[in-house]
Amino acid sequence: MSKQNGSRNKIIVLASVIGIIALLHYLTPTEPHAYHKLHIILRKLYFLPPVMAAAWFGLRGACATALAVSLLFIMHAFLDWPGNYMEQANQVGELAGFWVAGVIPGWLFDRQRSLLQELANANEETLLCLVSALDLREHNTRLHSQRVREYTELIASRFGVDEKTRREIGFGALLHDVGKMAVPDQILLKPDKLTDEEWQEMRKHPEAGYRIVKRIGFLRDAAEIVHAHHERYDGGGYPRGLKGDEIPLGARLFMVADVYDALTSQRPYRSPLSHEEAAAEIRKQSGYHFDPAVVATFMAIAPEELRLIAERYWNGELPD
Ligand SMILES: [Fe+2]
Repeated sequence: MSKQNGSRNKIIVLASVIGIIALLHYLTPTEPHAYHKLHIILRKLYFLPPVMAAAWFGLRGACATALAVSLLFIMHAFLDWPGNYMEQANQVGELAGFWVAGVIPGWLFDRQRSLLQELANANEETLLCLVSALDLREHNTRLHSQRVREYTELIASRFGVDEKTRREIGFGALLHDVGKMAVPDQILLKPDKLTDEEWQEMRKHPEAGYRIVKRIGFLRDAAEIVHAHHERYDGGGYPRGLKGDEIPLGARLFMVADVYDALTSQRPYRSPLSHEEAAAEIRKQSGYHFDPAVVATFMAIAPEELRLIAERYWNGELPD
């Protein structure tokens, strides 16, 4: 469900709650005494919508709702109690309570939201630092990691992955090669082909990355992607030789994004492939390297959308 749809649904629920409370309140007579008790209870329910609005929309939403409730309530005071100044004064006083019930939690919820946002930003910056640390050794890793993260999140969103999981998958994509920090310089930076022993050492990086990332609570799912980022759909990958759905979905989504970025990027030994050439390579590997369902989703993405991501990190300048 998109954020916009979610907000619209909440507004509908809020308006319905206000409508139902007002309707029941207006329809319940104040005589005899038994009905009057019910009438008073319904009157107290007007406190509910400002609190709900505070939780869902913060201070501004709470104020708008308190205003709507006040208008309905004040009409009631004058229509149901004409000339009864004591009762009217009592009810007008009660109005202040609706505002307090909305404004104080509204302010607190706004504050909580901004603190959570600050925390999310701090987490993001910490992760970028981690990727930058690897970038100091293996140049351009950060650009590659950021592009791959965005490609992966785009494919995930078209695959129907919800926003929270998409974010976790994005963290996994961003950190996928962080375990390369454990690979010695003479192997990591070797310009020539690696020997068998050197490959063995290099192939330890998913495990090393997993051990680094899994310690962090909010990165548990991301750690699984780091661990599985060199597996293959047909079981021919490493380190565990996982096959098909045994590979976490995030890693299956990542694999296509990673190879697409590698193929469309400049390499010392070849020019970047065009989108069409890279897509053809990916299609060839459907069912072998890649999950066919993920390949089908990737193929349905407009090249323009992928190009926009590539251009954001194109010229080699790292965004500060
Ligand atoms: Fe890797």
